[in-house]
Amino acid sequence: MCGIVGYVGPKPALEVVVEGLARLEYRGYDSAGVAVLSDGKLQTEKRAGKLANLRAALQANPRSADGIGIGHTRWATHGAPTDGNAHPHVDEMNRVAVVHNGIIENFAQLRMELEERGCKFRSETDTEVVAHMLSEQLTEHNGDLGAAMRSVCRRLEGAFTLVAISEDDPGLVVAARRNSPLVVGRGNGENFLASDVAAFIAHTRDAIELGQDQVVELRADSITITDYDGAPAQVREYHVDWDASAAEKGGYDYFMLKEIAEQPRAIADTLLGRVAVDGTLTLDEMRLAPEELRQISKIVIVACGSSYHAGLIAKYAIEHWCRIPCEVEVASEFRYRDPILDPQTLVIAISQSGESMDTLMAVRYAREQQSRVLAICNVNGSTIPRESDGVLYTHAGPEVGVAATKTFLTQLVACYLVGLYLAQVRGLKFGDEINAIIGQLARMPEQVEKVLNTVQPVRDLARSLAEAKTVLFLGRHVGYPVAMEGALKLKELAYMHAEAFAAGELKHGPIALIEDGLPVVVVVPSREGRSVLHDKIVSNIQEIRARGARTIVIAEEGDESVRPYSDTLIEIPAVPTLLQPLVATVPLQVFACELALAKGNDVDQPRNLAKSVTVE
Ligand code: BG6
Repeated sequence: MCGIVGYVGPKPALEVVVEGLARLEYRGYDSAGVAVLSDGKLQTEKRAGKLANLRAALQANPRSADGIGIGHTRWATHGAPTDGNAHPHVDEMNRVAVVHNGIIENFAQLRMELEERGCKFRSETDTEVVAHMLSEQLTEHNGDLGAAMRSVCRRLEGAFTLVAISEDDPGLVVAARRNSPLVVGRGNGENFLASDVAAFIAHTRDAIELGQDQVVELRADSITITDYDGAPAQVREYHVDWDASAAEKGGYDYFMLKEIAEQPRAIADTLLGRVAVDGTLTLDEMRLAPEELRQISKIVIVACGSSYHAGLIAKYAIEHWCRIPCEVEVASEFRYRDPILDPQTLVIAISQSGESMDTLMAVRYAREQQSRVLAICNVNGSTIPRESDGVLYTHAGPEVGVAATKTFLTQLVACYLVGLYLAQVRGLKFGDEINAIIGQLARMPEQVEKVLNTVQPVRDLARSLAEAKTVLFLGRHVGYPVAMEGALKLKELAYMHAEAFAAGELKHGPIALIEDGLPVVVVVPSREGRSVLHDKIVSNIQEIRARGARTIVIAEEGDESVRPYSDTLIEIPAVPTLLQPLVATVPLQVFACELALAKGNDVDQPRNLAKSVTVE
């Protein structure tokens, strides 16, 4: 999820673009770059690191801009955050520059075709193929950048927002989108493009949201929008009534609320580019050869916080699909308990930030013991992936809220992919079996969207419990780590005591805690899975209700068996057993967030916490 800006008009384009990038820096900040036309000549400047590095480079090497420019802050998906991989990318003749947000799934095929035609690539990114393709199409279309863009987009697969300028037409910025945000800012004698309105809201509040598969040709005094075949397109014009700060949050009051809402997109993006056309999984980016993975006899997952809970859920899936023993450990404990590791042990380090020192130390220890280490991480090029043998990146985009939400769900998706990939390379599942599960995963964004559209009762419930002193959480099977994650969210955000138990453990002690009116959240497993688990947890609900608990039950829609014992019933879509955490977690995130807001807490920056703890 990168930040993109385009401008054409009488103002100093470089200044307008860089200021716009500054408003988008929260979207991605591991490199930044700009391209302008200066006296008709295309000029680019790009730097790894924060936007400040780019500003310094521009100050050291000032240039004019002919009232036209594009810019980009990168959240790396393909290729480490280096100067060379930073956007914009240009063709070999330095005729056209392009910036890109998203993932081009068929870039490898396109790159191969371009190299066969003699193209020389300078970067590892998927984006660079677009620069070379645009250059070819500009020649085909006599310098018409709009036609060139439409022609290129018809060949691309995946999710992308593209913005380009070329020397062929110094007054024109062209952009295109598919499954990735792009909005036009209509000014007076000037026009803007951006990933979101935050970039240009200081200049204009009149916006046009582009639809799917559309191309916009922007001049200072005109905006032309077509589909990929050149036919005029219908668009939605609107007036932005957010202030600049709210605009960064997409109109939400807090980043966490925005990030909860982004979860369907984050899941879809994490699946992108990992399933080949024949349905097999292609995780070669993991850099762990199939023969290495076939030697694995044990898996140990190490992580902290929410990432640890993701690992607990991963264990159920990996052991069920791969029949490999899978231990899950809190990194800070693993590191110092002299664990038994060997070259046949695969250590999977799950870390959103890639910087948690507890997890990093566990990774170093594992490698000293000659174990293979696979990182599952959300920040491209961070320390833990760099010190691991292989990495599978989640594509949640930057998560600004300290409490993990969208990165947690994308960690689950990544863990499912690793489990399925292990089953694939070890021949434990046929292609059709894997494909069936991938198909179920591909439907999860819409299932999560359904939950997000029905959580108002959860918000109302949360506000009614603002004075509660404690909340207990119960679950079984994959629902138990979900209950743990729900309890952690409440601790992190509402500063309340909250505790999760395996529902089967209730009778061995925790049931003594049950008293009149005590809120207990129960995550009910799918009826389609191990139905015995479902029946047992219904008994657990009856047991605690009989002792006065206020039962808050999360169950599949249509599960009438729990209704008589539920003071509040929160229904979620019926999904396959092992994938249920993707939908069951969302109401718990909303519950904790809303209860915290009812208490007046800052959910983006909860007290005492940090987004990434880089000390042991
Ligand atoms: C905590 C964060 O500091 O670290 C949690 O507040 C996170 O949200 C935990 O789950 C682990 O962080 P990471 O980056 O290693 O996943």
